[in-house]
Amino acid sequence: MRVKVAEYAALFYDRGRLVWDDYLHHRQFELTEVAERVCRAFARFADPEDVCADLEPEDAAAVRKVVAELVEAKVLVVEGSPEHGEEQALLAAWGDWGASARHFHFASRTLGDSRYASWQEQDVELDEKLAGSPPPPPFKSVGTTPVELPKGNGLPGWANRPLLHVLLERRTTRRFGPEALDLAELGHLLRVVGGPLPVKGAISRSGTVLKTTPSGGGRHPVELYLHASRVSGLEPGWYHYDAARHVLEPLGATWTPEQVTASAGDQEWVGEAAAAIYYTAVLGRTRWKYDTARAYRIVQMDVGHLSQTAYLVATAMGLGVGFTAALRDELVEEVLGCDPNHEIVLGITALGRHARRRAGASRPAPS
Ligand SMILES: Cc1cc2nc3c(=O)[nH]c(=O)nc-3n(C[C@H](O)[C@H](O)[C@H](O)COP(=O)(O)O)c2cc1C
Repeated sequence: MRVKVAEYAALFYDRGRLVWDDYLHHRQFELTEVAERVCRAFARFADPEDVCADLEPEDAAAVRKVVAELVEAKVLVVEGSPEHGEEQALLAAWGDWGASARHFHFASRTLGDSRYASWQEQDVELDEKLAGSPPPPPFKSVGTTPVELPKGNGLPGWANRPLLHVLLERRTTRRFGPEALDLAELGHLLRVVGGPLPVKGAISRSGTVLKTTPSGGGRHPVELYLHASRVSGLEPGWYHYDAARHVLEPLGATWTPEQVTASAGDQEWVGEAAAAIYYTAVLGRTRWKYDTARAYRIVQMDVGHLSQTAYLVATAMGLGVGFTAALRDELVEEVLGCDPNHEIVLGITALGRHARRRAGASRPAPS
């Protein structure tokens, strides 16, 4: 029999304890120093009898015992065993993704017996949570002197466009014209995409708000920031959209088109846009309700839903629009003053007027 350390786990230190995190089977436990040393002897397939051959009888007996325990705990896999097969299938499919992707995926993958609370249980849990700590506020303000956005009365013309037409028309725009956006239309778009719905009891006891876009648990962790390059009636620069007050809060910085391009992973079409909405997520809002790694997935889904709303509203308005997830998080965190431990950068929606078509001037979609 030959055994080796399984590769469906990660090791980390937690307050001085070495933890074996078997993400495939959702089992975590401490590895003792002896177990760790035995694991090192089986980094590659080896026969325990060969490893024990040069040891004193007492030591050999101890190693055999630890090996048996580690095989039982699936820390060591026996060559040709079902666990070995599982490990090989995992590495064949996920090897190229790297250890962190497969760790996150399988650690946050639910199992057949994963617990889901009933509505009644959720209510009880909610009461306990509320008693322990209030939910983080669903809106953020950075506190600078705001720029009022036009309120706008009644339904705008674009609101009457048939949904199916808008859906069929929606495309990612990567060529923008030089014309500016209008502050009123931008304000409208921000309100429809990011603002709360004017419904009764809009903020519930757990800090849930309703918006045009769905959000996991109604937490709406996503914040909208705007970089205005060409918006008539608005100084170029960075703003935070305070959705509760429907105002733009200046952040005191302005980027050149080159800086916008750099933030978008060197994609020039983003730098050429008249404005760009940068999405972040305040993790505490979602984490307050969902205290698991899977909440991270939910946050990513949230921004996807929100981006589609932005796509559809901008398309209905006749604007060019394109989303990108290729961006340099750190540059954006710095300019927004986000602490990446709490507010994470997610993506950009570029906005602008459509470029007038020149023959043969189309820009291909990235493959
Ligand atoms: C999550 C996500 C990330 C994207 N990232 C980029 C990007 O980095 N660069 C880009 O040019 N387009 C990006 N796009 C746009 C897609 O390339 C585009 O949706 C796709 O080519 C299909 O074209 P369509 O949007 O016109 O249907 C992204 C879209 C999504 C949904």
